[in-house]
Amino acid sequence: MTTSAIPDVELAALARHSVELILRLQDPSGAYPASPTFSAYQGYSWFRDGAFIADAVSAYGEAESAGRFHDWCSGILTARAGVVAEIVAAAAAGEPVPDERMLATRFTFAGAEGTDEWWDFQLDGYGTWLWAVVEHAQRHGLSLEPWRPAIELAVDYLLSSWQRPCFDWWEEHAEHVHVSTLGCIAAGLRAAEAVVDAARADACADAVARIRSLIARGGMTNGHLAKWLGSTEVDASLAALVSPLGVYPADSAIGRATISALDEQLAVDGGVHRYLLDTFFGGGQWPLLSCFLGLAYADAGETDRARQLLEWAASTVTDTGDLPEQVSRHLLFPDREQEWIDRWGTVATPLLWSHAMLVRLQVRLGEAR
Ligand code: BGC
Repeated sequence: MTTSAIPDVELAALARHSVELILRLQDPSGAYPASPTFSAYQGYSWFRDGAFIADAVSAYGEAESAGRFHDWCSGILTARAGVVAEIVAAAAAGEPVPDERMLATRFTFAGAEGTDEWWDFQLDGYGTWLWAVVEHAQRHGLSLEPWRPAIELAVDYLLSSWQRPCFDWWEEHAEHVHVSTLGCIAAGLRAAEAVVDAARADACADAVARIRSLIARGGMTNGHLAKWLGSTEVDASLAALVSPLGVYPADSAIGRATISALDEQLAVDGGVHRYLLDTFFGGGQWPLLSCFLGLAYADAGETDRARQLLEWAASTVTDTGDLPEQVSRHLLFPDREQEWIDRWGTVATPLLWSHAMLVRLQVRLGEAR
């Protein structure tokens, strides 16, 4: 029983509908499309979106679907074992390969890089995937053996290259080292540490310690996490480092300060912006980010605030039951909205990652069924 505006029964129905939508749209290959219809995303699956989608359906109880996504990722990595070996060898020799030769961010359902130009070098998805596959196996008591070769490749790739600047969650600012990206890598290496051989486990532990110390020295501002090393801004993706990734847990000083800073600076009426200078589609509010902040609040024991954020995310559902990537109720740069509509069409809807985060938060609050 709650006193909320949206009854539990409707929220539970939306969670079930969201899971059904994700399962229906999952490609036979195992890939989760980012959005089935949006021009710029159509035909591609992202490691980042997909890892969080797999985590949500796994947490909801749809283990088979999550497993098939992990198989798809695993196939992509093992097909590139030679590429990873080259990247690792070049980094060890002190002559790292150029960004264009690093692993891609998104792949076609058939597991190819695709021919469309993209902001492709992003490290976070490989870390998040490691975290998600280990969590999934632990949650459902599954053996990690089928995924072990891919896990080792992702570990080797990240160990060789975690210090490199790359595009962030929003596929922007490739010149910086992003704190969210570092956190996703740390979460992945920490999860992998428990399941890989001793030499790799030592290297994972060492890299995680170095990442944490780098963030402590350069990735903080006013006691909370910052958008990139040297920045005084925040980015809503940092909420994921509190929860579900748990790199800076909600009961830690940094976790608490980060939750407060994100809420104060980026939330308007429960709708969360990506960051204050965001101009993408005018810089609207993202339901999936309200859910990430909600997860952090849930971990902090602030269930009422978590519930409000969940309800705001649920309030963005369209008449046909779809959740968008963002809504334009409160735009940071209203005069920049039209240029994106002209370029790519209206906002990606449905966005599977939005549906997934709503499900994940409802599961966390014990309200998904
Ligand atoms: C977002 C990414 C996301 C991609 C696919 C982009 O607009 O910036 O975070 O991975 O869409 O959903």
